[in-house]
Amino acid sequence: MRKTLQTVVLLGVGVVFATGVIVSSGQAADMSKDTAIKYILATAKAARTVYVKGIIGKAKKGGVSPNEDWVKEDHSIMLPAQYVKAIGAEIKDFELTLVGTNPLYSSNAAKTDKEKEMLAALASGKEKMVTFEDGNMTKGMSADFAIVEGCADCHNKHPKTTKKDWKKGDFMGAIIVRMR
Ligand code: HEC
Repeated sequence: MRKTLQTVVLLGVGVVFATGVIVSSGQAADMSKDTAIKYILATAKAARTVYVKGIIGKAKKGGVSPNEDWVKEDHSIMLPAQYVKAIGAEIKDFELTLVGTNPLYSSNAAKTDKEKEMLAALASGKEKMVTFEDGNMTKGMSADFAIVEGCADCHNKHPKTTKKDWKKGDFMGAIIVRMR
C-alpha cells in the first residue's frame, strides 16, 4: 500500500515537472541582445567563408570570377563584401554590413565615435569580436583581416582607394551588426 502511494506521489511529481518543462519550452527563448549579436556575427562570417572557399574557389575553375560589376558582367559573381551586404539588405530587423578603417566607399565608414573607438580596439588584435552600447543601439563587430594576398591587391588597385599599401595580414575593418 505504502509502495503504491510512493509510486503515485512520484508519478505526480513527474507529471508536474514534465508539464513545467513543456510549458517553459513553449515560451519564446530569452536571449540577450549581446548573445544574439554574437551568433549573428559568427553566422555571417561563416557564410562569407563558405562563399570565398566553397563558391568562389569552385566558380573560378569554371571561368567565373568575383567582380564588383557582376550584375552587368558576364561570367562574374559578387565580391565577398557585396555578398555580406546583400544578405544584410534582405534583413529588416537589424543592420548587417561591413565597416572599414580606410573604406573604399564612405557608406562603409564607421558611423559614430564609438564605432571608431571599437574598430581601434579590434585593430589591436587582443579581441576578435566586441559588442557595445552606442546611443540607443546595441552593436557588435567581428574583426576582418586581409587573410589572403588578394584582399590587399584588390583594395590597393581600386579606383576609390585612399590607401595603396595594404598587405596580407592587415586589419581592414569588421563585419558589423547594429540593433535597436
Ligand atoms: C576583387 C576585389 C576585392 C577583393 C578580392 C576583396 N575586396 Fe574588400 N571590397 C571590395 C569592394 C569593391 C568593396 C566595396 C563594396 C561595397 O561596399 O559595395 C569592398 C569592401 C570591403 C570592406 C568594407 C570597407 C571598404 O573598404 O569599403 C572590407 C572591410 C573589406 N572589403 C575587406 C576585404 C577582405 C578582408 C578581403 C579578403 C578576404 C577583401 N576585402 C577582398 C573589393 C575587394
